[in-house]
Amino acid sequence: MEVWEQIECRVSRRSYLPDSVPPEARTRLEARMAQLNQDYGLSFAWLEDGAAAFDGFGKSYGMFRGVRSLILCKGPAADPDLEEKLGYAGELLVLEATALDLGTCWVGWSYDRKCPLVPLDAGERLALVIAVGLVPADFTRREQFLLGVLHRRERGRGAIQAPSGETLPDWFVRGVSAVLRAPSARNRRPWRIAYHDGSVRLTLTERKAFALVDLGIAKAHFVLAAGGQFDWGDGGTYTRDAGE
Ligand SMILES: Cc1cc2nc3c(=O)[nH]c(=O)nc-3n(C[C@H](O)[C@H](O)[C@H](O)COP(=O)(O)O)c2cc1C
Repeated sequence: MEVWEQIECRVSRRSYLPDSVPPEARTRLEARMAQLNQDYGLSFAWLEDGAAAFDGFGKSYGMFRGVRSLILCKGPAADPDLEEKLGYAGELLVLEATALDLGTCWVGWSYDRKCPLVPLDAGERLALVIAVGLVPADFTRREQFLLGVLHRRERGRGAIQAPSGETLPDWFVRGVSAVLRAPSARNRRPWRIAYHDGSVRLTLTERKAFALVDLGIAKAHFVLAAGGQFDWGDGGTYTRDAGE
C-alpha cells in the first residue's frame, strides 16, 4: 500500500475483534518501533493485552469495545520535544498498521490512566497509547455515531494561508492535503500551515492537551506527502530535500 493510500484509508477505529494481531504483523510493527526508538530516542513498546485499562464501567466512557493490544507511547520525560516526537513517530506506526490492515486509534483520555500497564523506567513518561487490532470490515453502529460526532467539525478550511497572488507549488498542496487527513485530539486540528516564497510554517493555534502530539502527527503527514523535514518545535523550520 502506497503511503498516500495509507493516509487516505486511515480512520480511527474504536471497536476491535477478539482475535490477536497476527504474529507477522506484530513482528513488523515491533521492528519499526525499535528503529523509531533508536532514531528519535523514544521507548515505544508493544503491550499484547492492555484491556484492563479499557474494561469496566466509566473507564473508556463507553467509546471503545474489545481493545486488547496497545502501542505504549513513552520516552524520556526530560525531552522538551517528547510529545511532538511521539506524535511524529507514532503516526508512522499508525500508518504502518493501516498498511497491515489493522485498525488503530490514538488514545489520550479514554482509558484508565491510573491502570499500571507497564513499569516505567526512572525518568520515563507514558504520554498516551495507540489501540491497535483487527477490526470488522464495516464500522459498527457505535463507530458510525462517533464518527458523525467527531467529524462534524468542518475539515480544514482556514487552516491554510498563502499570500494572495502567490501560486502554491504542487508539493505544498500535496503536503497540506495530507495534513488535512491527519488525526488530532478531539479532532481539534489545532494548527495553521502558511506558505510564503518557498518556505512553510506549521504552527499551533492553541496549546490544549496533546496539541504538541497533534503537531508531530501533522508534520509526519506533511513530510510523507511533500518530502523534506521539519525541525522540532512550534513553527520549526521546514527544509526541502536537496535537488527538489
Ligand atoms: C493525541 C490524540 C489523542 C486522542 N485521544 C482520543 C481519546 O482519548 N478517545 C478517543 O475516542 N479518540 C481519541 N483520539 C482520536 C480522535 O478523536 C480522532 O483522531 C479525530 O476525531 C479525527 O478522526 P479520525 O482519526 O477518524 O480522522 C485522539 C487523537 C489524537 C491525535
